[in-house]
Amino acid sequence: MIAAPASSAAATRAAATPPAANPAVADGTAPVAVTRLDLSDFRCYRQARIDLDMRPVALAGPNGAGKTNLLEAVSFLAPGRGLRRARLGEVDRIGGGAWAMAATIQTPAGPVAVGTGRDPEGEGRERRIVRIDGQSLRGQAGLAGVAGIVWLTPLMDRLFLESAGGRRRFLDRLVYGFDPDHAGRVAAYEHALRERGRLLRERSADRAWFDGIEEQLAGQGVAIAAARRELATAIGHAAAEGVGPFPRPVLAMTGAVEDWLGEMPALAAEERMRAALAAGRRGDAESGGAAVGPHRSDLRVRHAAKDMPAEQCSTGEQKALLLAIVLADVRLQAAARGVPPILLLDEVAAHLDGERRTHLYDEILALGVQAWLTGTDADLFAPLADAAQHFRVVDAIVTPR
Ligand SMILES: Nc1ncnc2c1ncn2[C@@H]1O[C@H](COP(=O)(O)OP(=O)(O)O)[C@@H](O)[C@H]1O
Ligand SMILES: [Mg+2]
Repeated sequence: MIAAPASSAAATRAAATPPAANPAVADGTAPVAVTRLDLSDFRCYRQARIDLDMRPVALAGPNGAGKTNLLEAVSFLAPGRGLRRARLGEVDRIGGGAWAMAATIQTPAGPVAVGTGRDPEGEGRERRIVRIDGQSLRGQAGLAGVAGIVWLTPLMDRLFLESAGGRRRFLDRLVYGFDPDHAGRVAAYEHALRERGRLLRERSADRAWFDGIEEQLAGQGVAIAAARRELATAIGHAAAEGVGPFPRPVLAMTGAVEDWLGEMPALAAEERMRAALAAGRRGDAESGGAAVGPHRSDLRVRHAAKDMPAEQCSTGEQKALLLAIVLADVRLQAAARGVPPILLLDEVAAHLDGERRTHLYDEILALGVQAWLTGTDADLFAPLADAAQHFRVVDAIVTPR
């Protein structure tokens, strides 16, 4: 109830805001956008090229046409397993070879050429190749430095109901947009965690080795927890300033490391985590994990006006809360870095009522975000008119409308 006046005031404000004509410039943000996408043997696409400008992208077409596959391709321009979290081999077109894609991403620093795909020489081990401007990267973390990519898909409808891992990954992707090094830190932390697990399994008695790994885990672990905690708070504040007709979310990271960060300086929290890991070796050897660290934290979200945990809200409310979080994040990123992320919204527009859809479109245009929107009905995107680029997707063929 407390939040009701704030959100209705924001709704009034949003409704009163005329759609900006040249928003990115007016807002002072420098847009980031995919301007070319080349796919080969990517799911239903044997070969496809799409040329784009900086505007939002509306993809309309029947079920099974290949819309989500296009969004999945864009999601591979971020570190990780893409928006379906598929195994790399699953993405290979059935009957085709190893998938590959090339994209041009416009950034404030100029165009960047990104190539990625499944390594055909992987010999049973799945490995994703990543090239930026022709240079091969070790790992994928470097992608986070090119563009922030954030998505909402129907697969995330159960994000609040399922494991904490999904929520951590969701927040981590948002953090990449503020601190591209976060991706590398999370990858290194997870690697070190596996190394320590291996030492414990092998009953290693090498104290120096444990000490070294645990010191690294503590340093990276506290940095990861601090970044997540800071962003969760900042998104909560950004959302409090107005999410239009969407319900206001309250975000909090929960976990031991987060608690310590609330009570002591980061260096002391690091020392605390290091000591906890050293003291927990025996127990961790039994359980086969690590009892303490940001890999055990969770993102808790509440519906402010109802004062209710997100997981107890209706499916529709949960979707609306997620969208409110994503929009607050985009706004925050545009303000903090002057660069909004690319936003992938799969089957989102159809589930919104008119007021919410109008607010979503206004916000996308006002922030100068290249949002990729999908739906079965082209009429959904009619209000965007020339402010967006419209495509029809049928049987894996993409044509401008
Ligand atoms: N590895 C693959 N090889 C060939 N086709 C695939 C592969 N994976 C998925 N598909 C097909 O791609 C089609 C389009 O999927 P999708 O992009 O999800 O459609 P939609 O337009 O409804 O979002 C589906 O018919 C699916 O069977
Ligand atoms: Mg789809």
